[in-house]
Amino acid sequence: MTDLALQIRPEGPEDEEAIERLHERAFGPGRFARTAFRLRERGAATPELCFTASVGTLIVGSVRVSPILIGGAPALVLGPLAVEPAFEKRGIGAALTQRALEAARAGGHRLVLLVGDEPYYSRFGFARAPAGRLEMPAPVNPARLLVAELQPGALDGLEGRVMARRGLAPPAQAPGAAVRIETAS
Ligand SMILES: CC(C)(COP(=O)(O)OP(=O)(O)OC[C@H]1O[C@@H](n2cnc3c(N)ncnc32)[C@H](O)[C@@H]1OP(=O)(O)O)[C@@H](O)C(=O)NCCC(=O)NCCS
Repeated sequence: MTDLALQIRPEGPEDEEAIERLHERAFGPGRFARTAFRLRERGAATPELCFTASVGTLIVGSVRVSPILIGGAPALVLGPLAVEPAFEKRGIGAALTQRALEAARAGGHRLVLLVGDEPYYSRFGFARAPAGRLEMPAPVNPARLLVAELQPGALDGLEGRVMARRGLAPPAQAPGAAVRIETAS
């Protein structure tokens, strides 16, 4: 990313419309059936974990991260991640993903899940979720169900239903502590 004055910054309410148009171009009309959209739709936004990439006033990329529950334990889902087609392959997707993961780690979050291509996301520490442990809200190709531990051992013992969570709970519990059960609405 040497030829453009790229800025990665937290998403603001003023970005909403441009991001919606970007999603339309990147994912098309079927996007609302995608897992990241579905898991997000009932969960509140997490502005501190969502970032946009811009060149001047033009929004060229966006990553969103939303709170979820996995078997009652707090976690995050990364996505949608989208880059304007004309700006692809310049490191924007990587810069957005890395920034979101750094912010999540700094916020004390322990685990991030996503549905996507392992060959792309493995560079950020994502790997296939252990077979059969996570129950997604809709059928998902297991090869595309990926998780990244932000803290070692975050996956240990984690299993159950994956669902949207409204608002960010305090950072996840230390290993061995009681799991706080929250109600998704
Ligand atoms: C996937 C996407 C976010 C990548 O953004 P980007 O800014 O081009 O990504 P980067 O510049 O960080 O990385 C580009 C590299 O990743 C590779 N790459 C891109 N998508 C890939 C994929 N699905 N699988 C494997 N590699 C992929 C590119 O070939 C390129 O490789 P190179 O560095 O060897 O040339 C972008 O192409 C996009 O918005 N696609 C449409 C929406 C989408 O599919 N989003 C992901 C949902 S899971």
